[in-house]
Amino acid sequence: MKLKTKLVLLITGLVFLVISTLSWLYLGQLLQVYINQSYTTTTEAAHQVLFATRQAIDSGLRERTFNVNDPAAVRAAVADSLRTNPGLNALINSIIDYSPTVLDVSIADSHGRALLSAPNAALNDQMLPRRENYGSLRGQTLWQTLHTIFGPPQVYNVSAGLDLSGKPFLTVRIGVRTTFLKNSFRPWLVEALWLFALGMITSLAVAAFVANLALAPIETISRRLDLLEQTQGEESGGEMAAESSGAMPARRMAGSDAVAQVSGKIERLGQRMRNVEEVFTALKENLDQVLSKLQDGMILFTRDSRAILVSSAVERFVGRHRDELLGADVREIFDRETRLGRLVRDSFEAGMSIVQEEVTTETGRQVQVSLDFIHDGQGREEHSFGALLTLHDLESMQELESELELSRRMASIGRLTAGVGHEVKNPINAIVVHLELLRNKVELKEPEQKHLDIIQSEIHRLDRVVQTLVDFSRPVELNMREHDLRQIVQQVLTLASVELEGRGVTLTSSLPEFPVTVKVDADLTTQALLNVVINGGQAMPDGGLLDVRLTEDGRWATIRVRDEGTGIPPEVLPRIFDLYYTTKKDGSGIGLAMTYRILQFQNGRVDVESDSGGTEFSLCLPLQGVSDPTARGELASESSWNEGTGA
Ligand SMILES: Nc1ncnc2c1ncn2[C@@H]1O[C@H](COP(=O)(O)OP(=O)(O)OP(=O)(O)O)[C@@H](O)[C@H]1O
Ligand SMILES: [Mg+2]
Repeated sequence: MKLKTKLVLLITGLVFLVISTLSWLYLGQLLQVYINQSYTTTTEAAHQVLFATRQAIDSGLRERTFNVNDPAAVRAAVADSLRTNPGLNALINSIIDYSPTVLDVSIADSHGRALLSAPNAALNDQMLPRRENYGSLRGQTLWQTLHTIFGPPQVYNVSAGLDLSGKPFLTVRIGVRTTFLKNSFRPWLVEALWLFALGMITSLAVAAFVANLALAPIETISRRLDLLEQTQGEESGGEMAAESSGAMPARRMAGSDAVAQVSGKIERLGQRMRNVEEVFTALKENLDQVLSKLQDGMILFTRDSRAILVSSAVERFVGRHRDELLGADVREIFDRETRLGRLVRDSFEAGMSIVQEEVTTETGRQVQVSLDFIHDGQGREEHSFGALLTLHDLESMQELESELELSRRMASIGRLTAGVGHEVKNPINAIVVHLELLRNKVELKEPEQKHLDIIQSEIHRLDRVVQTLVDFSRPVELNMREHDLRQIVQQVLTLASVELEGRGVTLTSSLPEFPVTVKVDADLTTQALLNVVINGGQAMPDGGLLDVRLTEDGRWATIRVRDEGTGIPPEVLPRIFDLYYTTKKDGSGIGLAMTYRILQFQNGRVDVESDSGGTEFSLCLPLQGVSDPTARGELASESSWNEGTGA
């Protein structure tokens, strides 16, 4: 059964119950009142008759002569007085004529024999029939009363008695017909039934209206859901085919009630939304990954200026963690006090786009800013969906470009030197062999012998140089494995400790308490770090402090090696990574070139900062996977690190 039908029936049923109960009570009450009323009036009439009877007897007996001791004579005299008294008879006739309830009036003697009977005078001197007392109707239930009224016609008596010297003398009896009650009651009943029918029809109409009114929102929701389903279906055309089986119940349910339809539709929509959510989550993960690799800072703002997408690089520009920026308002992200903040805020407030505008920040960094407001298809300003802000670090771009250029140059030089090395090595070998042959064949004197020795030693030196060159430019086979960088650092410190100790250098180190996992070639990385550590020691001929520190920021592991040497002069700094560049008497100039190359192979980088107080080299390596802050104990602060001093 439809919900609407159920609702209508329920409301109508309730109204039926209320109306019928009220009608029942009302009718019962009405009937009782009527019975009481008629009982009272009839009793009054009986008393009037009784009064008139007494008067009629008084005057009648005075006029007549009879034997007072003969009861029959007395009875006859009384009966005659009554039957001939005009006042009494007129009263009785008027009662019978004008009261619709009264059937007959009679006056009976103490034995129940009629002294006077009207309108049927034939009953005079006859025994009157026994009748129920009309008063007994008063205490009956409505049901019993109805039974009496609508049952076979009956006559009830209303009586008033007269005593003589303490003994019942005569009784006035007025006969009341039940048909009279039936006749008076029928119009009320019909009226009540009409009212009842009217009430029921009204309640049906009201119930139908209320049901429609109550269910209208559900039907609207159902239609909306249909629309939503349609649009979703159109959006995911392929999905529709897959869901054709799911569409079947929709059609099957068309006949059932609105609530079942709505809940079915909500269920299906929910399923779709779950699917969409899964796709969305996957997309978001991809997007996050892409954003984390972006060099440019990028923030996507909503219509109400809240950041919903933030690339990791933004952290470099605003100095706050990405998670803090997500959901923040543009006013919370950018401070008006800074040049960059002012530019962004002003443009945002004015709703003006920025096209590649360059700003020099307070720290001297060159940033190129772009701001685009995203509008709807019609390009109406007031329908902006949000804005996209991009921050482009010009300096790091230049650095990157120069690094790229350098590695390009290194690669081509590498190829060149490898080729040249091979070509040079063959003639050198030939020279060495033939020089030896010459030595064996020709006996040379002292001065000539010395020239030959010089030629031989220089050729050997040339051979060594060429060999290094070939070694250096030969493609390296990397043995990349996951390692805990702490172990590599520890090993280097052990290896270097003997030499550093000899120079009077104090070694201090600090390593995190948790593993710092990187994917590297352990031997090459050890070599790269060792070169830097040894250089640091060599930079402090009179001893000093060499500090080695390992840190990580979730993306990069960084080893900082700081010495207290004299520093690298600015004019030397750009050349230190060049192969064979050395300022040391017995240096070869291979160390840093090798370190640079090894880090480059492993997607890392080397930075150097130097002043007269000392030099700090930073070797950065990408962490294996983006580390989970909880797994690596994000809270491991500087103070919780192992502060240890090496030898
Ligand atoms: N910590 C440092 N302090 C000062 N100068 C340094 C430091 N590290 C490197 N240098 C400069 O960079 C130059 C190149 O260093 P590199 O390690 O490549 O060669 P090297 O140490 O001279 O020779 P080797 O091949 O034996 O290492 C050094 O000669 C030195 O002038
Ligand atoms: Mg060196």
